[in-house]
Amino acid sequence: MLLEEFIRGIPKAELHLHIEGTFEPELMFEIAKRNEKKINYSNVQELKNAYKFNNLQEFLDIYYAGANVLIEEQDFYDLTWAYLKKIKAQHVIHTEIFFDPQTHTDRGVSFDTVIRGVHRALEDGSEQLGISYKLIMSFLRHLDEASAFKTLEQAMPYKDWIVGVGLDSSELGNPPSKFKNVFTKAREEGFLLTAHAGEEGPAEYIWEALDVLNVIRIDHGNRCLDDTALVTELAKRQIPLTLCPLSNLELQVIKNLKDYPLKKMMEHHLLVTLNSDDPAYFGGYMTENYVQVARALNLSKAEIVILVKNSFKASWLTAEEKAQKLAIVDNYANVN
Ligand code: HPA
Ligand code: ZN
Repeated sequence: MLLEEFIRGIPKAELHLHIEGTFEPELMFEIAKRNEKKINYSNVQELKNAYKFNNLQEFLDIYYAGANVLIEEQDFYDLTWAYLKKIKAQHVIHTEIFFDPQTHTDRGVSFDTVIRGVHRALEDGSEQLGISYKLIMSFLRHLDEASAFKTLEQAMPYKDWIVGVGLDSSELGNPPSKFKNVFTKAREEGFLLTAHAGEEGPAEYIWEALDVLNVIRIDHGNRCLDDTALVTELAKRQIPLTLCPLSNLELQVIKNLKDYPLKKMMEHHLLVTLNSDDPAYFGGYMTENYVQVARALNLSKAEIVILVKNSFKASWLTAEEKAQKLAIVDNYANVN
C-alpha cells in the first residue's frame, strides 16, 4: 500500500481544530446570502486569493471577518456538520474542537446560539458518523481577562457539553499569565486546560502556560526547541504538543516543511501530534497535513503509526476509550 493511501485510511484523531477555521468559502457565501450579510470579496475565488498571510495577525483579521456572517444556530450547525462530513471521509474517528465564543458574543450573537448549533452537530456526528468528540471553549487572548471571566460564566449552564478551556488569538504581547485568574477558576470548576503557546511567542510563554496556568496540553509549542530545560520538562511530563504543520507553513512560522523539526521532537521523546488548526484557510485537513509532512520528511509507516497513536494517547478520552481506539489503529496497521 502506498504511504499516502495508508495515511488516508488510518483511523485518526484531531486535537487542535478551530471550528471557525473550517469555514469554507462556498459555505461562507451561502450563509452570508441567507443572512443578508456582506462579504468584502465578490466571489469565492477572490476570497481564496486573499488567503496569503505573512503572520498570525494577518490570518486572524480575515478569520474574524469570515465568522461575521454566522448569526443563527443553524449556521453553527451547518459549519460544524460540514467539518464532520469532511473528516469522516478522511477517517478521523475522534475530534477535539475549539470554539471561540467571544468572536460571536462581541457582535451580538448569544453564547447559547453558538453552542447549541455546534453541540447539536457534534451529537449528530457521533450518532450518524461514528465520530466521538470533545468540545473546548477558547478565550481570545487579545481581549482582557474580565471578558474571559464573563465568557466562563456564560459557559456554566453548558458545563456538561464543554470539557475544557483553551487560549488562542494574537499571541505576541498577550502572555498566558494575563489569564492566570480565569484559568485557576476554570480548573476549580473542573475544566481541563490547554493553551496556544510558542507558536509565534517565545519558549517563556510555554513555561507560563505550564507553571502559571497549569495546562495539561500545549497547542503548537514549536518554540520549545529554543529551551533545552523546557524540552526535558515536556518530555518528562509527556505534555502533548498539538502541532499544525500546514498552519505553521501558511503563517510563516516555518519557511519550508523540509525544516519541520518533527523528527527532532520525536527523538527528544516529546508527545507530538499532527493537526489541521484552520483547514479552510491553510490548504488542508488532517490527511493533507500528514501527507505533506510525510513527503517532506520522508516519514515511514511506523512513524505515521506512532504519530497517530500519540494523538489518541494525548486526547481527553478515558483510559478505556483510548485503549479501544488504539486497538483499532493497531489492527489497521497490522493488515495494511
Ligand atoms: N493561533 C492562534 N489563534 C488562532 C489560531 C492559531 O493558529 N487559529 C485560530 N485562532
Ligand atoms: Zn490553533
